[in-house]
Amino acid sequence: MIIGRGKRWVGVLMSLQAFGLPSLAVAAVEAKRVNFGTLQDGARVEAAELSNSAGMSVRIIALGAAIQSLDVPDRGGVREDVVLGYDSPREYVAKPQYFGATVGRFANRIARGKFALDGREYTLETNDGPNHLHGGVQGLDKVLWNIDEVRSGPLGRIVLRHVSPDGAGGYPGTLTVTATYSLSERNELAVEYSARTDKPTIVNITNHAYFNLAGKGDVLGHRLKLYADSYTPVDATLIPTGERRSVAGTPFDFRQPRAIGELIRDGHDEQLRFGRGYDHNFVLSGEPSPQGMRLAAWLEDPASGRVLEVFASAPGLQFYSGNFLDGTVVGKGGRIYRQGDALCLEPQLFPDAPNHADFPSARVDPGREYVNRMVFRFSVSRP
Ligand code: GLA
Repeated sequence: MIIGRGKRWVGVLMSLQAFGLPSLAVAAVEAKRVNFGTLQDGARVEAAELSNSAGMSVRIIALGAAIQSLDVPDRGGVREDVVLGYDSPREYVAKPQYFGATVGRFANRIARGKFALDGREYTLETNDGPNHLHGGVQGLDKVLWNIDEVRSGPLGRIVLRHVSPDGAGGYPGTLTVTATYSLSERNELAVEYSARTDKPTIVNITNHAYFNLAGKGDVLGHRLKLYADSYTPVDATLIPTGERRSVAGTPFDFRQPRAIGELIRDGHDEQLRFGRGYDHNFVLSGEPSPQGMRLAAWLEDPASGRVLEVFASAPGLQFYSGNFLDGTVVGKGGRIYRQGDALCLEPQLFPDAPNHADFPSARVDPGREYVNRMVFRFSVSRP
């Protein structure tokens, strides 16, 4: 059965009711178009915002279909912007941190930029030491997307589209990508990526939001729970070795909530040394709902009480603890971003999937739709 995108989204959010959430409220989420300045060549960067009556709002910019700001109330109702980013478009082009961006065509790393499909070898750009990272130098995060739709309603919605040409970054096939951001009255920000190709290709698209639920300082005191019994260890260049290793008894055991900073400096753990902290793919172990969504992560800032739950349709979750933020980056409001000032929780396929036959496949064929859905649900905890 073919259902409209809007209906499908209601389906995803409704699936959260399977986790014990009450049904959607009726008040409307307001949507509007705004401008976000210009690029070096004078091109205007369009943007759009969604705000609900519960005090949450999100701004999406056409450059990289990125989340530029995300205001969320704390337990006292005080709103704070909980994602890192820049105040102007030019900084997004100049700096490689992927703040809030849509990353792809293949998010994460591909060893030496090489993979094979149907017996033919492809070579992608290598932009991270010997490896390919986040779609190459001109990935989905660096292009201007078209904002196709901005709609108010019980589920406010922003739909962006980009057509990535055959051969971009070395990838086969013309890839038509759609990014849909929806905000509910229940403080759920849903993100859906879908893509179609005209040739067999590989696709892995996710969002690279850097969260800091306090809106300032670092995230080492945030408490994290990951619904993962194992993770995929990496080599020194952060390429998975192919092993799925149990988290039990390691600093990667987040099956019960634990402060991110508790073991992040454990130099006995080679994996933490390789990543300079956490920069690993966790194998999600929760049972998916009938709509294919499962709880992947729970994150709390104990001081403000802000809580983020991540629901995912993807099999993996990259947990990156902002290890490469080195204090040279000045973000929104003139704030210096230092190591550990934010973390990313990126639902996606496993890194280097095209080179591991036993990892979930990244292959997409003509006539098939690639879809990756995630929901970031905000609430507050009581002390
Ligand atoms: C990803 C990677 C990290 C780093 C960031 C961007 O999350 O896993 O190693 O490259 O992107 O800085």
